[in-house]
Amino acid sequence: MNVIEQIAELREEIKEHKRNGRTVGFVPTMGYLHDGHLSLIKKARAENDIVVVSIFVNPLQFGPSEDYDSYPRDLRHDTSLAREAGADYLFAPSVQEMYAAAPSVSATVKDRTDVLCGKSRPGHFDGVATVVTKLFNIVLPERAYFGQKDAQQVAVVDGLIKDFNFPIKLVPVETVREDDGLAKSSRNIFLTPEERQEATALYKSLQAAREAIGNGQKNPETIIELMKTIIDTQTSGKIDYIEIYSYPELKPVDTLKGRIIIALAVRFSGARLIDNMIFNA
Ligand code: PAJ
Repeated sequence: MNVIEQIAELREEIKEHKRNGRTVGFVPTMGYLHDGHLSLIKKARAENDIVVVSIFVNPLQFGPSEDYDSYPRDLRHDTSLAREAGADYLFAPSVQEMYAAAPSVSATVKDRTDVLCGKSRPGHFDGVATVVTKLFNIVLPERAYFGQKDAQQVAVVDGLIKDFNFPIKLVPVETVREDDGLAKSSRNIFLTPEERQEATALYKSLQAAREAIGNGQKNPETIIELMKTIIDTQTSGKIDYIEIYSYPELKPVDTLKGRIIIALAVRFSGARLIDNMIFNA
C-alpha cells in the first residue's frame, strides 16, 4: 500500500491505472479507522481493481463549537489497518494541500438538510458535499463506498452524484456494530465507561421501535415517545433528536408505512452519537 499526501502524485498514479483499464473503488474517511470503515474497504476490495482510502479530517464540515481539534487522529495505526483490509492507496492530504486558497466556490446542499443532523449541525452537509466533490475529482472512482450509519450523508451524496453528473456508483454499506449493538464510531472513545454501558440503549430503543411497529403500531409520535423513555431512563445522555421520515426522501410521515428511517442523536459528556434503522414498516 502506498501512502500519498500530494494531490498531483495521486492523480498520476490513478491516470496510469485508468490507462490500463483498471477500475477504482473509493472509501472516503476521516480516519481513526474501526471495523465500520474496514467493512467499506473490504467491500471496495472485492468489487474493484484498485482501492483508494482517504483520510482527511475536513474542517469545513465541523461547526465552530464542534470537535474538529479534538477529533481523534492516528495515521500510523490507520496505515496498518487500511493495508490489512486491502487498500492500494492511502491518500492523507494536509488541510493546506486540500484548501490551498480560500475557496471561491463551494457546494450548498438544498434538499433533505432541514431534518436530522442537517438541522442540528448547520453547514455540516455543505462541508461534506464540498470535500466529497473535491475528493471525487481527485480520485475519479467508478464506485464510492459510504456507510448507512450516516444515512443522511448517503442521501446527500446520492443527490450530489445525480445533480453534478458524477459518473460514479454510490454503494451504501450496512452499519457495523459492537457485540452489544452500539454502532462503531471513531467518537466512541470519548465516552466514559459508564456512558459506554448506557450507550447500548440507543440501539435498544431502535429495536424496540421496530418491534412495536411490527406489532402494528402506526403512529410515529407513539414510537418516538417509546424511544425517548428508553433513552431518558437508561442513559445520562441528552437527546438531540429522535425523528422518523420516509426514506430516502426524508419527508415527514403521518402514519408508519412504506420504507422509513428512524434516526437519533444523543449527546453524552464527551461525544454526540448517532444511529438509525431503515426498514419497511
Ligand atoms: P467518517 O465518519 O470517518 O466515516 C467514513 C465512512 O465510514 C462513512 O461513509 C461512514 O458512514 C462510514 N462508517 C462510519 N461508522 C460506520 C459503521 N459503524 N458501520 C459502517 N460504516 C460506518 O463520514 C465521514 O467520515 C465524512 O463525512 C466524509 C464522508 C469522509 C467526508 O469528510
